Amino acid sequence: MRFDVIPSRVGDATVTVPGDKSVSHRALMLGSIAEGRTEVSGFLAGEDCLATLAAMRALGVDIQQPSPTEMSIEGVGLHGLRPPRAELDLGNSGTAMRLMTGLLSGQPFDSVLTGDESLNGRPMNRIVNPLTRMGAAIESDCDGSPPLQISGGLQLHGIHYDLPMASAQVKSAILLAGLYATGTTSVTEPAITRDHTERMLKSMGVTVTSVDGRIALSGGQLLHGCNIKVPADLSSASFVMLAAILAKKADILISNVGVNPTRTGVIDILRAMGGDISLENPQLSGEEPVADIRVRSSELQGGCVDPALVSLAIDEFPVLFVAAASASGKTVFSGIGELRVKESDRIAAMSDGLRNLGIDVDETEDGAVVHGGQFSGGTVQSHGDHRIAMSLAIAGTVASEAVLVEDVATVDTSFPDFCTSMASIGAEIRPATDA
Ligand code: S3P
Repeated sequence: MRFDVIPSRVGDATVTVPGDKSVSHRALMLGSIAEGRTEVSGFLAGEDCLATLAAMRALGVDIQQPSPTEMSIEGVGLHGLRPPRAELDLGNSGTAMRLMTGLLSGQPFDSVLTGDESLNGRPMNRIVNPLTRMGAAIESDCDGSPPLQISGGLQLHGIHYDLPMASAQVKSAILLAGLYATGTTSVTEPAITRDHTERMLKSMGVTVTSVDGRIALSGGQLLHGCNIKVPADLSSASFVMLAAILAKKADILISNVGVNPTRTGVIDILRAMGGDISLENPQLSGEEPVADIRVRSSELQGGCVDPALVSLAIDEFPVLFVAAASASGKTVFSGIGELRVKESDRIAAMSDGLRNLGIDVDETEDGAVVHGGQFSGGTVQSHGDHRIAMSLAIAGTVASEAVLVEDVATVDTSFPDFCTSMASIGAEIRPATDA
């Protein structure tokens, strides 16, 4: 699959984007181990979350899906999961793999987790090490990559862990294992990361404390099923925000987007570059803040992106690279080494993609310097990474000639109907199958 993108006239519109991926994964996992029923609306029916759905069903949980975006989960309680009959295939999803490993480390049965080629190449020692310290037994490939074989029947014990990298997936894996551990499990993080796990646990009645940067819970606490309204995903909204900012004259409202402060780095960084972004109608949806986001066409200026905002914008750097390429002057990104172990090496993939569109980029080990310019037409590779594919497609809407983005099938992992949503704002991004 590829995208054929032609220079487009993005204009005024009101749009919605699909539900939050992180919250959707967590709703399935936590709803499954809660007491009683959890009703979820606004669920992201993308391939990553559907892999988690299939995994939870394979672990014996009855989950009905009355519509693509609604889930009704009959929680089985902390100790009610059943041994799966086969290995659990988590597709492209790092979140599913890392959080499920935490959850399954405390079960009385063995399990095996695997994924696609990209996921099976991603580092898992970051979770295997702390979980092993808690008493888990997890075998991986010699270089620490999946498949992961998790031995059941081991009693976990609480630990304190200083996370060596800012990672919500690692933090969450440890906290989920902590529910099955004796005593208290706690973590500190080198930088604040998304806190959806902590918020959802709290809304299900679990006591999770966060004092002086130390996040802690005691094991054995029961979760109580609840209703979860998943907000629209700010990470998906950021592609619309980018298209609006780059357009000649657009004023776009994106409704009901999650604006949890551990996720809003992209807004702060784009504003610092001159992006005209405002939040309207702020509300709480359960424990999660939401708002409508209004974005207007803007002239961006380069500068140094504040490294303190990196963990709050971790998935939006492909978008920010395209913004930087359209800004005046140069933009310096540093402290973004974690991007090299995402669905692709995103520093390399974006540098390569932008260069193919006529932009000068100097890559560094943990960052890049992007020199603003005008996108030419051309053919670019997504490296099988959904966010690279969508970011380069948006660049194509303001290129001087047509842009062809190759290998875009993984866009369905996080943003089903991306092209239709983009068409509703005037962006001409057409899916095509290679002959
Ligand atoms: C996620 C955490 C982040 C992010 C990913 C989703 C989560 O990963 O990149 O898309 O839902 O916890 P890391 O924890 O590896 O930074």
